[in-house]
Amino acid sequence: MTPVVQERVPLIERYRDRLPLDPDAPVVSLMEGSTPLLHAPRLSERIGVETHLKVEGMNPTGSFKDRGMTVTVSWAKGQGAEAIICASTGNTAASAAAYAARAGMRGAVIVPEGKIARGKLAQAVMHGARVISLRGNFDQALELVKQIVERQPVELVNSINPYRIEGQKTAAFEVCDDLGAAPDALAIPVGNAGNVTAWWKGFVEYGQGRPVLYGFQAEGAAPIVLGHAVEKPETVASAIRIGNPARWKEAEAALDESGGSIAAVSDEEILDAQRWLASTEGVFCEPASAACVAGVLKSPPRDAALLVCVLTGHGLKDPETALEAVEVTVCDPDYAAVERAVLG
Ligand code: F0G
Repeated sequence: MTPVVQERVPLIERYRDRLPLDPDAPVVSLMEGSTPLLHAPRLSERIGVETHLKVEGMNPTGSFKDRGMTVTVSWAKGQGAEAIICASTGNTAASAAAYAARAGMRGAVIVPEGKIARGKLAQAVMHGARVISLRGNFDQALELVKQIVERQPVELVNSINPYRIEGQKTAAFEVCDDLGAAPDALAIPVGNAGNVTAWWKGFVEYGQGRPVLYGFQAEGAAPIVLGHAVEKPETVASAIRIGNPARWKEAEAALDESGGSIAAVSDEEILDAQRWLASTEGVFCEPASAACVAGVLKSPPRDAALLVCVLTGHGLKDPETALEAVEVTVCDPDYAAVERAVLG
């Protein structure tokens, strides 16, 4: 029997008719999107709701940002832009750097010093972006980037750029394609609030039902939950260490319209959920992504038969956090000792 080989296509080709790009615009792609929707039997059993994981860590740079970046960088290149810039907690920087390289453009990324996962920093550096480590936080970095693009011929590729939202809404299209309709509920981590906004836009445009949205922020960086900006956000989930989300209002409107809510989870709950998911379902996501798993473990969505959890980024992005809490068995190269160690 000939195996069926599923052909990968650029996200822009898959959903071209629903994206606002000129037909003759260049396509800057690394074969993003079309990520797995994976059934999670153990999580389903534990929370009493059939649950699927949308594994966005399977995108080319390991996070959902590639969806927005392919559309944004293609648009920017079509405009004749030669350089792009973003503020980032890490993943946007990695993605922007990769797509800039692919497009033959220059990329600059501004990240909070010492507060981004090593894997993401390595990506941004390897892809040849100019990496600026800011003695400040993400919110300050974004304000500075906004000022730069007013003065310099460089395109901003943060999620305040509408093309980012356009690209990211395709994740909702894929889930609807896979399930035949929207799930009853969607659990998603919230940082700068672009992604929850994009998913909602996607469900509304697809027109096959709308899920109740459950957003989750980290306790130390939960401005939307608290109802006010957080001046010094802190969390182990560095990707969502954001105190004043740019798309706060849109995210709130989407959550309201869906009949959903937003809640906070502690760092301990995040790390427990991350480890539990990796060791029981075999899916290793980064801490920010695990926030939505922590959230549904704590309070499973009521009245939902089908839930999708959005695992926004790959666990390998942040090996340091993963290794902090574990002890690895060290052993001499001696058979008896190794056998003892193996059997525990
Ligand atoms: N999960 C991961 C892994 C992220 O990197 C981010 C955001 C989010 C969730 C939250 O998405 O900001 O659209 O609400 N990361 C941005 C960055 C801020 O710079 O990489 P959001």
